[in-house]
Amino acid sequence: MMMGKPHWHVLGAGAIGCLYAQALQRSGCRATLVMRSGTPAHPVSVIVQEDDRRLEQQLPTITPESDAAISHLLVTTKAYDVRAAVAGVAHLLADRCAVLLLVNGLGLAEQLLQDRPGLDVYCGTTTEGAYTIAAHHIRHAGRGETRIGQAGLATPPGWFAQWQRAITPCVWDPQIADALWSKLAVNCVINPLTALHRCRNGELASRSVLAREVDTLCDEVARVSRAAGYAAIADSLPATVSAVIAGTADNRSSMLQDVESGRPTEIDYITGHLLKVAAQHHIAAPHSQSLMERIKHRAT
Ligand code: PAF
Repeated sequence: MMMGKPHWHVLGAGAIGCLYAQALQRSGCRATLVMRSGTPAHPVSVIVQEDDRRLEQQLPTITPESDAAISHLLVTTKAYDVRAAVAGVAHLLADRCAVLLLVNGLGLAEQLLQDRPGLDVYCGTTTEGAYTIAAHHIRHAGRGETRIGQAGLATPPGWFAQWQRAITPCVWDPQIADALWSKLAVNCVINPLTALHRCRNGELASRSVLAREVDTLCDEVARVSRAAGYAAIADSLPATVSAVIAGTADNRSSMLQDVESGRPTEIDYITGHLLKVAAQHHIAAPHSQSLMERIKHRAT
């Protein structure tokens, strides 16, 4: 049983990191942003705009040079930054530090545990919609659900009750692997196609050439999903993808935004993870393979 309220350190002060850091602080927890090495460790003002409300909160910061002791670490960086970012604060992490990964893609929890077997790693996924207006100033554009879990853990740890007070709705999911795979499968279809064709999500349904590509890719991703033990997710994948496309028709996917801003993409942790699983099960996934190569070797 957890005594007192946990102090969360947040690694990755983008839109989702700021949203959760502010929500945790407002619920009565301590929340501290972990800044890059060399940044002045001043408190920063985190602003969250939602509807016509503007919530401003001063949050303390630390850098990896500090002597802070981190007992609870929320990681909301880009997938490709997770490993190095956690390594950068490894000397500050308490034994059995709780690390909650709220990042895109799969394979990172395993990587972290390989690097540091003592960590108590949790994974989460959210449908909260938030985007950055300026540094530490975000718009909370759409309310969604946050699901958190750890493989094999049926009941939540002590700190989870505070998360439920801070973030609504927030659900403990004993089958978190299913939720993460379902998100991965959807991302494997929508993200590379929107990034390559430089289109909004809705165009994947409204342009017939793209809609055919969605169907082909859904078949392939469903085959891999079935082989990996996610038969129900495989069966409903076309319907799930259609619903996400319809519900986010005006959005630019995260991968399209990365491509447009000249950032690296998270393709290695999305399609790349799917391809690893496909290879383990001896399943050919030529469409995903070709999309991954085209994204990686695209002209910028
Ligand atoms: O990565 C994204 O942008 C989102 O997960 C999704 C569902 C593809 C919608 O844009």
